[in-house]
Amino acid sequence: MSDIKKIGILTGGGDCPGLNAVIRAVVFKASEYGWQVMGVRYGWKGMLNADAITLTKADVKDILPLGGTILKTSRTNPYKVDGGEAKVLENARKLNIDCLVAVGGEDTLGVANKLTKAGLKCVGVPKTIDNDLGATDYTFGYQTAVQIASDSMDRLHTTAKSHDRVLVCEIMGRHAGWMTVDAGTSASAHWIFTPEIKGSVGDCCKMLKERYARGDKYGIIAVAEGSEFSDLDVKAASQSTDAFGHVRLGGVAETLAKEIEKCTGIETRHVVLGHTQRGGSPLAYDRILATRLGYKAAEMIKDGQFAMMSSLRGERIDAVPIEEAVKALKTVPQQYYDAAKTFFG
Ligand code: F6P
Repeated sequence: MSDIKKIGILTGGGDCPGLNAVIRAVVFKASEYGWQVMGVRYGWKGMLNADAITLTKADVKDILPLGGTILKTSRTNPYKVDGGEAKVLENARKLNIDCLVAVGGEDTLGVANKLTKAGLKCVGVPKTIDNDLGATDYTFGYQTAVQIASDSMDRLHTTAKSHDRVLVCEIMGRHAGWMTVDAGTSASAHWIFTPEIKGSVGDCCKMLKERYARGDKYGIIAVAEGSEFSDLDVKAASQSTDAFGHVRLGGVAETLAKEIEKCTGIETRHVVLGHTQRGGSPLAYDRILATRLGYKAAEMIKDGQFAMMSSLRGERIDAVPIEEAVKALKTVPQQYYDAAKTFFG
């Protein structure tokens, strides 16, 4: 057993359903091992400011079904702050934190990996609605976000059909189309655009004209926020980037809807699901996955497996190097998209 007395836990990046389930699991398991737990507030910002609270089983016993994160979050990158790394290490000493559980996506975990090399032992838990982390079959929060997008598109079908309209639905996911392909398939969208494949707006319009000609006078188009097209230029909504250098995406559905209306002459409107996809209570699947991943993170600390991340592999939860998880974005393979394509039209 590693020589641990007190651990810290933080949640970084965009919030995601299931974060509280991880916090609860880590605190319960830590208490079994006799460790104290500090909840670091606002992700890495909390480590720069020594902003932490004590967490006991009594504090977390009822948080499993709650969305968001009781610890709050931020997109702060300590490596973009002058003397940031040294400050984090100093505050870890000040707070007597022997090891830190970082719950996050590629950005948060990338920092955890660097800090472990710098002397602060960290373990990771894979979080993101985008499902774009490597070395794990799924990240927690993903299934809930897909369900929200799928339910929303089910609703779009009935209203689009009533008005003979085309509705274009913009789905989050940054540069990975997992949510869009899965929610689009689940809600039987008539066309799906993803960032991985530069789709043709012209082909989509042809399909819509055919639908209307045969009497199916409505259309649902799922478009990932990071999509690019073979025959349409889309400008990013904003040139502003976060501390990890990511451009804020959004706006593609509006551009696409205008183009479809121009090309088909059919009334076409757009909907941006936005942060609705990150809000609310996690599905049972994500509660269970988050609990298992958090449980494993505590076990990894006990076993001295630092710079590692808990990961879903088939039915198992394993420890994998964080390095492996963050080295490349996990995107939708062509074969996966091709299967979804069968149902277009
Ligand atoms: O990474 C999760 C995510 O929800 C992306 O799908 C989206 O592009 C981004 O975060 C939005 O981030 P923010 O809430 O900081 O604008």
